[in-house]
Amino acid sequence: MRTKVAIIGAGPAGLMLGQLLSLANISNVVIENRSRDYVEGRSRAGQITPATVQILTESGVGARIHSEGMVHSTLQFHYEGSTRELNFQALTGRTVTIYGQQEIIKDLIAARLKTEFPLLFDAADVQIHDTDGFSPYVSFSHGGEQQTLECDFIVGCDGFHGICRPHISDSLTQFSYNYPFTWLAVLAEMSPISPDVIFSSHETGLALFTMRSPNVSRIYLQCSPDEDPNEWSGSRIWDLLQLRLEGRPEKVNGGAIIEKSIVQLRSFVAEKMQKGRLFLAGDAAHIVPPSAAKGLNLAVSDANILARAFEQHYGKGKEDLLLSYSDIALKQIWRDVQFSHWMAMLLHRFDDNSHFHRRLQIAELDRVLGSGPAAQSFAELWVGNPPFAAS
Ligand code: APR
Repeated sequence: MRTKVAIIGAGPAGLMLGQLLSLANISNVVIENRSRDYVEGRSRAGQITPATVQILTESGVGARIHSEGMVHSTLQFHYEGSTRELNFQALTGRTVTIYGQQEIIKDLIAARLKTEFPLLFDAADVQIHDTDGFSPYVSFSHGGEQQTLECDFIVGCDGFHGICRPHISDSLTQFSYNYPFTWLAVLAEMSPISPDVIFSSHETGLALFTMRSPNVSRIYLQCSPDEDPNEWSGSRIWDLLQLRLEGRPEKVNGGAIIEKSIVQLRSFVAEKMQKGRLFLAGDAAHIVPPSAAKGLNLAVSDANILARAFEQHYGKGKEDLLLSYSDIALKQIWRDVQFSHWMAMLLHRFDDNSHFHRRLQIAELDRVLGSGPAAQSFAELWVGNPPFAAS
C-alpha cells in the first residue's frame, strides 16, 4: 500500500488532518489501534472555540455543531460565596460552542467514510520506520494480515501515550509540570443547573459545572492525586458539588451517573514537533490541563497548520511552511499552556501555604472580573485566536 501522508491515530488531530488533506485531494491513510465504537464513545472535551467551529464548518463537517451545539457568551465565577459573571461575547464579539468531542469524532468519521481514503480501525503492532530518510513507512497488522504502508510523510496524532513521540525522543526537548491534584470527571443525566458554565473556586477545591446537552451535565471536582472513582457514590458527588456551590440558589438534585473517571492534570510540551519526515500533532506533542478547555482546540489548530503546509508542498512545491510547522504551532501552544496553567493556579486549592495562596487567588479573581483590561485579556484568551491561514 502507498499513500502521501500516513496518519497514526484517529482522535481529533488525526481525523481533522485526514479531512483537510482529503478535501485538498492529498492521499492519506489514517491508522487507529482501537475500534470505531471505542473511539466514538470516548467522552472528553466539549468547549469548542470559534476557530475550531470555523475549521469544521469550512471543511464540510459543521452541520451538526451548528444545529445541536449550545452557543455560550458568558462564564460565571463563584468564589467567597457569591457569583460574578464575565460576558466574553460583549468583550470580543465572539461566542464559544458546547458540543462533545465524541460528536465531532462521529462527524469526522462519517465524512471520512464518504471519501476514497482509508481509515483503518483495530490496527495492531503499529510501528513507524525510516522517518529520517526519503522513504518512510508504517508497518502494522490489520484483519490478521501484516501490512506495510509506504508514504512521503508520517504524522503522529497518536495521543500522549502513542509510539511516534518516543521514536524521536532523542531530538526532543520536553517541558512538563504535574499538578498536585486530579479531577473527578462526571457525566450525568441531569438538566444543567445554569445556562452558563460555572467555575467555582471553593476553599475545599474547584468545581466546574458544564453541560453536553439540555439533559446531560458534565461536572468536574478537584480531588486528591490517588483517588479511586469507584469510591465516589452519587450522593458523595452531589454533596460535594452542592458544598462547592454554597451561596448559590440552586439545589443540586443529582441524576443518574452515565460515566465517572479520574483526569490527571498535566502541562507538557515536546519541542520540536517535527524531525525529518515525521511530524507530531495534538496530544502526541503537548498536553494542557483542562482548566481552560484548550486541548481539543489545539489538536485541531495543529491539524489545520499542517494541512496548509502539505497543501503548499504538494500544490506549489514550496517547503517553507512544512519546515516551520513546529515554530508556528508552538506559538499558539505556549500561549494556551500559559493560559491553562494560569487558570489552574487561579482556581484550585493548593495545600501548601493555602491561606496565603487563597488571598492571592481572590485578588486575582477580583481583578479579572472587574471592568478593566484584565477582563478584556481574559476574554480574548478564552475565545482564542482565529485559525492559521497560509499567506
Ligand atoms: N497506533 C495507532 N493509533 C494509536 C496508537 C498507535 N500505536 N496509540 C494511540 N493511538 C490512537 C488512540 O487510540 C487515539 O484514538 O491515537 C488517538 C489519539 O487521540 P487523542 O488521544 O484524542 O489525541 P488527539 O487527537 O491529539 O486529540 C487531543 O483530545 O481528548 C482530547 O484532551 C485531549 O482534547 C485533547 C484532544
